[in-house]
Amino acid sequence: MKRQLEKILAFVFRVMLHSYQKYVMTNLRSRLKSLGVNVRIPDKFLILGHDNIQIGNNVSLGMNVVLFAAEAELTIENNVIFGPNVSIFTGNHNISVLGQPISEVKVKLPSDDLPVTICEGVWVGAGAIILKGVTIGHDSVIGAGAVVTKSVEPYTIYAGNPACLVKRRFNPEQEKLHITKNAKENSADRVNP
Ligand SMILES: CC(C)(COP(=O)(O)OP(=O)(O)OC[C@H]1O[C@@H](n2cnc3c(N)ncnc32)[C@H](O)[C@@H]1OP(=O)(O)O)[C@@H](O)C(=O)NCCC(=O)NCCS
Repeated sequence: MKRQLEKILAFVFRVMLHSYQKYVMTNLRSRLKSLGVNVRIPDKFLILGHDNIQIGNNVSLGMNVVLFAAEAELTIENNVIFGPNVSIFTGNHNISVLGQPISEVKVKLPSDDLPVTICEGVWVGAGAIILKGVTIGHDSVIGAGAVVTKSVEPYTIYAGNPACLVKRRFNPEQEKLHITKNAKENSADRVNP
């Protein structure tokens, strides 16, 4: 009897969770600038500036992802994976005003908000922080815990704080092969947001 009750409760919980996840996705689809298909958004996330955020197809965002794009755009292209606890901020507070606490400064400089782009095929490791103005190039890897303050070349691995080039993923010959093979195999479903 107790076992059956547990089974029923587990079933009800699963149905409720599924409905909640569906509701979250529908809500995000209506609020984000664009949201592709086959996107995995975790149960726990924090998003600010929905209108400025585009997410492509086959994207998997990890647990506790934080996306802040209050003023400048954030674009996450197709086939991107995030580990847990990744944070992206497309803006800074204006820290140049004299005689006022930063929290009260309302005017921003153009350089305080700059777009961030995570290009196709990128893997962002757990706990990485990506700051304004950064483009993470195609098929590159950001190591766990990296703080990315400058743009990252395609097909590379960057790690550390501030993030630096650790190595290239492939040698030049492999890189060419990767690009050709990748383009051929996936051209059909590659639609950027
Ligand atoms: C970046 C990463 C993919 C590199 O893996 P790898 O190719 O096996 O690299 P290596 O372990 O050979 O490391 C190469 C160098 O970079 C350093 N390094 C690797 N990852 C680092 C990181 N996250 N931060 C700082 N330095 C790092 C290593 O210490 C090593 O330095 P050395 O050459 O001075 O000894 C991996 O270390 C990583 O961070 N993975 C993320 C895991 C994760 O977040 N998983 C979540 C599930 S999605």
